[in-house]
Amino acid sequence: MSTGRGVFVTLEGGDGSGKSTQAGLLEEWLLKAGRTVLRTREPGGTEFGLEVREIVLHSRGFITPRAEALLYAADRAQHIATKVRPALERGEIVIQDRYIDSSVAYQGSGRVLGAAEIRSLSQWATEDLRPDLTVLIDLDEVAARARLDNDQKRFDRLEAEKSDFHRRVRESFLEIAAAEPTRFVVVDGTLPPESIAAQVRERLQPLL
Ligand code: TYD
Repeated sequence: MSTGRGVFVTLEGGDGSGKSTQAGLLEEWLLKAGRTVLRTREPGGTEFGLEVREIVLHSRGFITPRAEALLYAADRAQHIATKVRPALERGEIVIQDRYIDSSVAYQGSGRVLGAAEIRSLSQWATEDLRPDLTVLIDLDEVAARARLDNDQKRFDRLEAEKSDFHRRVRESFLEIAAAEPTRFVVVDGTLPPESIAAQVRERLQPLL
């Protein structure tokens, strides 16, 4: 399904890769250029999604991998239908922290549910809304973990997974990006934030 007149940009990467910093820099640049921006995220971009987020990230009991996959897909269905599509139809630029590729990497590879089924679940949930550009901030899991440890936040259910899980997630993101080079810009997460931001702007400019 087409995205209307707006531009849909998603940011992907492991936990601690610096997505939020980049989303902020990109938003600032677009606002300065006079564009209307919706900055949002998954999970938790809607009221409904905030409740799902609480369950999926902080529930104390065991959540089976398929239930986890369905929770992310439910959050996504609500978010895309009620917030993202309407913004794109108004011609806005949507900057979104995480989307379907996160489910493919975390649930498909991390939880080993399989990439194809997880992708098609989310495509159904969103009536196949595809990003115009996806920024993958690539960082190895050791460097990412060191950043998270530095933040001293309490780990959520996914962050608390072992390094093997995070290695599979990283490899999956790189595979997805390699398969769709026109949709993706892959940036080295160890570079200074401003130099990453410059690479992102360069790729986005022709789409504006
Ligand atoms: P995020 O909001 O990026 O984490 P934080 O705000 O703590 O930086 O994402 C929360 C977690 O959810 C993150 O570990 C990745 C995971 N996740 C999935 O496993 N599947 C998904 O489809 C999405 C969107 C996120």
